[in-house]
Amino acid sequence: MASNKKVRRRSGAKLWSGRFSEPPADLVKRFTASVGFDRRLAEFDIQGSLAHARMLHAAGILNRRDLAAIRSGMARILAEVRRGSFPWSLEHEDVHLNIERRLTDIVGEAGRRLHTARSRNDQVATDVRLYLRASVDRLLALIGRLQEALLNLAESHADTVMPGFTHMQVAQPVSFGHHLMAYFEMLARDAGRLADCRRRINRLPLGAAALAGTSFAIDRMMVAKDLGFEGVCENSIDAVSDRDFAVEFCACAALLMTHLSRFCEEIVIWMNPRFGFIGLADRFCTGSSIMPQKKNPDVAELIRGKTGRVNGDLVALLTLMKAQPLAYNKDNQEDKEPLFDAVDTVETSLAVFTEMLSGLTVNREALLAAAREGYATATDLADYLVRKGMPFRAAHETVARVVRYAESQGRDLAEIKLTELRRYSRLIGSDVFGALSLEGSLRSRRHLGGTAPARVRSAIAKARKALR
Ligand code: ARG
Repeated sequence: MASNKKVRRRSGAKLWSGRFSEPPADLVKRFTASVGFDRRLAEFDIQGSLAHARMLHAAGILNRRDLAAIRSGMARILAEVRRGSFPWSLEHEDVHLNIERRLTDIVGEAGRRLHTARSRNDQVATDVRLYLRASVDRLLALIGRLQEALLNLAESHADTVMPGFTHMQVAQPVSFGHHLMAYFEMLARDAGRLADCRRRINRLPLGAAALAGTSFAIDRMMVAKDLGFEGVCENSIDAVSDRDFAVEFCACAALLMTHLSRFCEEIVIWMNPRFGFIGLADRFCTGSSIMPQKKNPDVAELIRGKTGRVNGDLVALLTLMKAQPLAYNKDNQEDKEPLFDAVDTVETSLAVFTEMLSGLTVNREALLAAAREGYATATDLADYLVRKGMPFRAAHETVARVVRYAESQGRDLAEIKLTELRRYSRLIGSDVFGALSLEGSLRSRRHLGGTAPARVRSAIAKARKALR
């Protein structure tokens, strides 16, 4: 390592190099730099800096000329960032120092005054919150679009009968629309969780400076208002040190992915020819390089797979925080990549999933045939016996014997004749066949939250209203 004690203050020298007798080793520079990934915060960094500068001016800390210079310099930098011509440099470590250095190169002295009453610690916390707030808003819009697509599909299939499963075995007949609406509910909770998390994201750390606040008479509420924050972080130490809002976001994201993943799992199963419940548009499937007959539901599988990444992002952030003493530690620089990854993964997954739904075709006949196969109305027969006076436990046993009989004959329940049924209970009359039909079974479950097509349609109408 070069140990040149008389390092000159070159214009490329670090903004914090004054205290040091030698520059950091190249290896250390590369190891500690974050500009490779945190440059995606650039627009938010500029936004935060402008709000800070406006406040410094209002508080009489920065004069009008300096503020004007900072504004015009930042406008130019923003254009460079958007155009892709900003001269990002590893030499300047992170997004904050890159932009500050560039500002000073453009406007001179005024750029060197911007960092008054501020630290990169409250700066980065502010940037991440601004970034995450914008991300949450995009995700909420995407969830809304998916919910809308689900409502439309559910509406056309309120009357479509399918076997509902428990333990992946045929359980009871349900409306396919009802099944889809289960996912609508999950997504509604996901959106609610994100909206709730947004409230805690939406607080301003700026003003906390390094950790102890600043000796300048700053106006934090002004900056908060300017940046659209609902309030400020009330404790300066907490403001720079905690990333719980990011952990919370990742938890919301992981749950959302889990819901998509379960749906994807069903799509994969339903598309298997043994089920044949649905088809996917060719543009959402891929083939095999060796097996010419293959049409694979890759998109669904990938979303299911990517759920693991987001779970990993959550665990990464939890682990990042768990042993950090107060206040800011460089560990926190590691919050960005998992957070960005979670946002990106959820965003693309939601978008592609919604598109995939638009190309989904439903095979009503296959669903109906499957519902006829597994004695799905056995519970309805038991309920029928209960209505005739038999205790439910006895009815359960009786029907179990009927099912064994039907099974030994290779027949469906509805195919067993009345005389045969009456061998199991004299309570059974000719009105039993209403209870044994799939449509009758569905129609009878008309209570709130039930699968009766009429109820499903009213649930859809209610959901549509809530979505608006
Ligand atoms: N790049 C840093 C981060 O992401 C910015 C804050 C650095 N602060 C400091 N005192 N080194 O956390």
